[in-house]
Amino acid sequence: MVKSGAIPYHFAMAQSNPAETLSSLAALCWLLEAGADEAIGETPANRFRTPAVSPAMVQPERASAHPSIAQHEPALPTQPAGQSDQIGHAMKLAAACNTLVELKAALEGFDGCALKQHATRTVFADGTPERRILIIGEAPGREEDLAGLPFVGRAGKLLDRMLASIGLDRKSSVYITNVLNWRPPNNRDPTPEEAAACLPFLRRHIELVNPRLMVLIGAVAIRHVMGRREGIMRLRGTWLEYYVNGHMIPVMPILHPAYLLRRPADKKLAWRDLQAIAAKIHALQLLEPGATRE
Ligand code: URA
Repeated sequence: MVKSGAIPYHFAMAQSNPAETLSSLAALCWLLEAGADEAIGETPANRFRTPAVSPAMVQPERASAHPSIAQHEPALPTQPAGQSDQIGHAMKLAAACNTLVELKAALEGFDGCALKQHATRTVFADGTPERRILIIGEAPGREEDLAGLPFVGRAGKLLDRMLASIGLDRKSSVYITNVLNWRPPNNRDPTPEEAAACLPFLRRHIELVNPRLMVLIGAVAIRHVMGRREGIMRLRGTWLEYYVNGHMIPVMPILHPAYLLRRPADKKLAWRDLQAIAAKIHALQLLEPGATRE
């Protein structure tokens, strides 16, 4: 929430300089992804500005010529500016892609997510986008990193069995991707910065698939795709709404198969959610022969 009357710095900048709109929105996205959804100061502070020359190196006469910068703005770490640049770059790259093939190539050429340095492969997607049933998980693990495909390890095998239980399979009826396209070291949770660098690609991925139904696997996917911070136990089994190209897409959050491997007793909850997904697919006639997109 932003207090009324307080115009976020980057919106003000965007209005006075349209050329900055894209990077301003990217910076705002990054702030939201980082969890900063409330303005708490009356006066906006530009925390992204990086002095071109460090204050320690500024000549005294030059410093006094720009008192507003030299005296009131502390030296800021360069990382956030670099980060917002990377998000802006990711947004431009993703927006320029008109096919999934182009998007995959753009991701493979993008070096703005730190996770890529440690990863073996870029993990893009698997399955059949034509059916427009989109499944989004969290991030590749070890097996996925080696194979370059999502959900091929133990959790992936359970996911395949879960899908099979309602007549779905990845080769002919669903399309699977992740929020993160590179494996976080030791399968740790992705940082907000890592997720933010991948999100422009994910959003474009969703637009290009243009799904008629989405399934979000686990809390990380729900947080980053829907911006919802409630626990997975609260949201699972509840239909949510996501808008793509002006159309509402029903979204079902489900328990992560990796969690179900640890807590098999909760498979009954997953089964209920799978039944709800199957009923929706039937109601929307998504597996009817004519439903396949050209
Ligand atoms: N877990 C995920 O969320 N995604 C994968 O691709 C593999 C495991």
